[in-house]
Amino acid sequence: MILNLLGITLLCVVTWLYYRWTRVRQYWAKRGVPHLPPNPIMGSLTFLQRQNPGVWMVNIYKQFRSPYVGAWMFWRPALIINSPELARNILVKDSSFFRDRFLSSGSSDPIGSLNLFTVNDPLWSSIRRRLTSVFTASKLRALQSLVDLKSSQLVQRIKNAQDTSKLNIRMVYMDYTTDIIGTAAFGVETNATLTGVDPMRTVTQAFTSFDLYRGLCWSSIFFFPELVDKFRFTFFPKWSTDYFTKVFKIASKHRKNERPRGDLLDALLKLMDEGAKSNEGITEEVVIAQAAIFLFGGFESTSTMMTMSSYELAFHPDEQEKLYEELIAFQYESENGHLEISKLADCRYLNAVIKETLRKYSPMGWLDRIADRDYKIDENLTISAGTPVYVNNIGMQYDDELFYEAEKFIPERFLPENAGNIKPFTFLPFGEGPRSCIGKRFGQISMRHALANLILNYKLEALPGAKKPNEIKIEKRGLLLVPGEELYIKFIPRN
Ligand code: HEM
Repeated sequence: MILNLLGITLLCVVTWLYYRWTRVRQYWAKRGVPHLPPNPIMGSLTFLQRQNPGVWMVNIYKQFRSPYVGAWMFWRPALIINSPELARNILVKDSSFFRDRFLSSGSSDPIGSLNLFTVNDPLWSSIRRRLTSVFTASKLRALQSLVDLKSSQLVQRIKNAQDTSKLNIRMVYMDYTTDIIGTAAFGVETNATLTGVDPMRTVTQAFTSFDLYRGLCWSSIFFFPELVDKFRFTFFPKWSTDYFTKVFKIASKHRKNERPRGDLLDALLKLMDEGAKSNEGITEEVVIAQAAIFLFGGFESTSTMMTMSSYELAFHPDEQEKLYEELIAFQYESENGHLEISKLADCRYLNAVIKETLRKYSPMGWLDRIADRDYKIDENLTISAGTPVYVNNIGMQYDDELFYEAEKFIPERFLPENAGNIKPFTFLPFGEGPRSCIGKRFGQISMRHALANLILNYKLEALPGAKKPNEIKIEKRGLLLVPGEELYIKFIPRN
């Protein structure tokens, strides 16, 4: 009797699963949307841990050349957007349909789930509104002494090296970005740039180490958020959030007795005061979550851009020379040779080099959103509420028709006189619309300052036999598009 009952239950489950799977499998075909056949368990995610999602996005773009492509996040249908016009609609024009990201961290992980990147509306709006003002160009000038100090320490660190060709450049640049963002957001003096070690650097080091468990946490947060709470997955390693909490509490206590510095910590303390007066849910945990995402959102993306621009310039001596000449002229004209944040922002070739690096190596190659209502994509397709959409920015940035010889490093395409050739919404390294990168200017200032100081002090040279930029491995286990191997160049002192 019991066996019969078990048998019938099993049959019902298998029939139901088969019926559900058939519907899932036919989802995009029925709607006439091009797609690759889904895997019965992973959907379209069979590339996870085997290929970087950014590389996968470029391949999907090239394979289909269609304005959109159907995909499955496990069994959930999702849409990849390959067209600048649709990207504009989703990110900007109809952004009220797409306020939130699909990814989400669980309720057992407040620092991971309440930060600007992961949090949903309406808490997102009230935090973003309050923090936007601190990232304006005028407020960020307060970073001047910090970037001056840290970029001169970066130059010194290289000078101290017995053999510069043994410096793992990504690690050294991560030391620099950890110091810059750690100091600005947590108000503590860190010393990683000069020495390579610091407790804050141990935290950022942990963010970039991907073992199987962290890979699972991230894959679930990004692509299967329903599982996050069940397995208590976390966005940051638990010990690091304990560390953030401790450091933030100490730093905020100190800062309350000091003069305001106009940095990120001041803005976060103001957020905390305002939060206590409002009933919008801005608790101390929420504020610490913002400090954590500033560090996490900024240190790896910015250091990856510094790594890839140095590496490309080492292989492009003519472009490097143009940059050097621009910077020497700039330094000659500025008072005491000082690299002022606001003036450096006008260096045309420096900006072009940084933009070209961002185009080729956007750390986030896809911008995710979730439709909160049914949404008409075009005359032929309406997606249902709850459908994740992924704007494939890296795919567009590697399209030869949009960026001639897209595989090549050509900063000239971003010079102001050529800017007209770049079609709107095809170059989106910082995203677009209300949920675009809040730290864009901060990241640009940190990159410009470091790169300018490096180029003024050193000639960068490729090592004999080193892999060309397009041959280097890309990290397979993480979700950001970053190098998957150590990179080395030679720094030759200029004088
Ligand atoms: C080269 C440097 C950087 C790159 C390429 C970059 C890129 C991005 C991208 C693509 C997004 C998603 C945008 C979207 O979905 O439309 C984003 C979001 C974000 N970034 Fe950055 N980022 C950089 C530096 C920074 C820095 C320095 C910080 C903080 C100091 C930061 C903090 C954030 C935050 C908090 C978000 C979430 C914004 C929201 O949802 O409201 N980023 N970034």
